Amino acid sequence: MSTVIKGARPYGEGDPVDVLVEDGVITAIGAVQVPEDAEVIEAGGQVLLPGFVDLHTHLREPGREDTETIDTGSAAAALGGYTAVFAMANTDPVADNAVIVEHVWRRGQEVGLVDVHPVGAVTVGLKGEKLAELGTMANSQARVKVFSDDGLCVADPLLMRRALEYSTALDVVIAQHAEEPRLTVGAQAHEGERAARLGYTGWPAAAEESIVARDCLLALHANARLHVCHVSTSGTADVLRWAKDRGTKVSAEVTPHHLLLTDERLATYDPVNKVNPPLRTESDAEKLRAALADGTIDCVATDHAPHAVQDKDTEWTAARPGMLGLQTALSIVAETMVRTGLLDWRGVARVMSERPAEIGNLADQGRPIAVGEPANLALVDPDAEWTVRGAELASIAANTPYEGMRLPGVVTATLLRGRVTARDGKIC
Ligand code: NCD
Ligand code: ZN
Ligand code: ZN
Repeated sequence: MSTVIKGARPYGEGDPVDVLVEDGVITAIGAVQVPEDAEVIEAGGQVLLPGFVDLHTHLREPGREDTETIDTGSAAAALGGYTAVFAMANTDPVADNAVIVEHVWRRGQEVGLVDVHPVGAVTVGLKGEKLAELGTMANSQARVKVFSDDGLCVADPLLMRRALEYSTALDVVIAQHAEEPRLTVGAQAHEGERAARLGYTGWPAAAEESIVARDCLLALHANARLHVCHVSTSGTADVLRWAKDRGTKVSAEVTPHHLLLTDERLATYDPVNKVNPPLRTESDAEKLRAALADGTIDCVATDHAPHAVQDKDTEWTAARPGMLGLQTALSIVAETMVRTGLLDWRGVARVMSERPAEIGNLADQGRPIAVGEPANLALVDPDAEWTVRGAELASIAANTPYEGMRLPGVVTATLLRGRVTARDGKIC
């Protein structure tokens, strides 16, 4: 089986070239003789990137298949240019044992649109009381590489220290949802003027920053790898800079929504804008963009969080936090980082594919576009624009904060090990 991508510009650089893919591997780049049986994708000078890797997605299976399944979430991922996603453990039942993580991994392979790597829970049932069997999950067929209680913070410093120490022997990474729970009781929105005006209990920046600072020190002393989920404040970026300067093995992600949106959205009263951690200020968003550009923040992760209408379209205080992200991520990064000149397309490849693949320890993802490399690829039309419609997205849920917005950057094709998984907005 062979595919030729004709006239693409790898990393958006240089003259268009043809890329020949045979049996899942890139076998030629340049002016390619098209094999007779080959599927041809006319790229017309579009940007060719390594397939995106999402370190943080919620697929809701098992337990909330009314909002997303591994099937529909994989489709959303493929349409968004992703070739691998890490599925968070806060399912029902929780992915805190080998049976669940193996189910998620196998189901992902059956669907076959994207590699679904299950994240294992750090603590049993996400209860924050005792460590889950990390080793059993790491050694299972799912080969779990990332552990997180995401949705909740591993708040107990002793437990977090043990998890970090234990992780070094398994060569896995602990991904922390940084939220000091004592500082966010009843919190609804970013603690500041806007939340105060509406009478919402505030979610202070310090609730995130204090945990990140603590965990960086715990990781440094344990010589362990720590990953910080959804960085949302400029102060967290400062802490990360400090920790990295001191040799801490810490990596961090920022979501597309924290790069673009701010707590100005509170004025809409629309709970589609409620998310954890909350949308912060313009100044935070600006500093997060700068931190992503300079490498203080390593990568973009979606925190794709589908929610049912009855859980989301309610009054603000009752609504669940979270927003869809897989199909809009590339466009938001194009809008906030490429259009502004903060990143070129090679930079986009770094933050959406190469760094997340390294952090998640995936050998066959985030690879260079070169002969002999696995054909995990995303083709992007940088000049095209599209209008977001939640109802038209592949997810079962429709809670996108970008409803009706016109965004730049259209993913026109995605290849997983040479197989075309999505093309021109349709699943293949
Ligand atoms: C996530 C969810 O819905 O599972 N919600 C969110 O607001 N981000 C949990 C999380 O990432 O903390
Ligand atoms: Zn979280
Ligand atoms: Zn999450």
